[in-house]
Amino acid sequence: MNFWETTSPDEMDAVGQTIASQIRPGDVLLLHGDLGAGKTTLSKSIIHSLTGVDPMLIDSPTFTYVNEYSPNIFHFDLYRLTSEETFYEKGFDEYFSENTICIVEWPERCMRVFPPRSTHIYIEYKNTGRTIRVEAA
Ligand SMILES: Nc1ncnc2c1ncn2[C@@H]1O[C@H](COP(=O)(O)OP(=O)(O)O)[C@@H](O)[C@H]1O
Ligand SMILES: [Mg+2]
Repeated sequence: MNFWETTSPDEMDAVGQTIASQIRPGDVLLLHGDLGAGKTTLSKSIIHSLTGVDPMLIDSPTFTYVNEYSPNIFHFDLYRLTSEETFYEKGFDEYFSENTICIVEWPERCMRVFPPRSTHIYIEYKNTGRTIRVEAA
């Protein structure tokens, strides 16, 4: 388990870089946290670290559910997902494989669809900053 206390988006970015350095193909990261907690901020940092994509070009796929980044990195935002059935109907479970990395905002929408090996990341408010806790499977 890893735990950090941050007081700014920049510090959040540093945590994202550290997390990214430990990611391996096959990993599924489930980002838990209220609206505004910092899930997208952390996702951007991780995706930028893994791919080099400009964070300005990384946005949460609120309406399309998933964005793909090369190579084999998928960023989900399931806020608007209404059921687990929808997740399967859209074929999203096929994105979980030993060759892909999946980063998921709002996993609570369909907790049973994720592989048991998934890593849980909890982001919580603390004063004006945030705490980040990583729990590997
Ligand atoms: N560690 C932090 N400390 C203070 N503010 C933060 C931190 N991380 C992110 N923020 C700010 O919180 C706001 C919401 O972040 P966002 O990543 O969009 O949240 P979420 O995706 O969980 O809804 C942004 O304005 C962001 O800059
Ligand atoms: Mg978000």
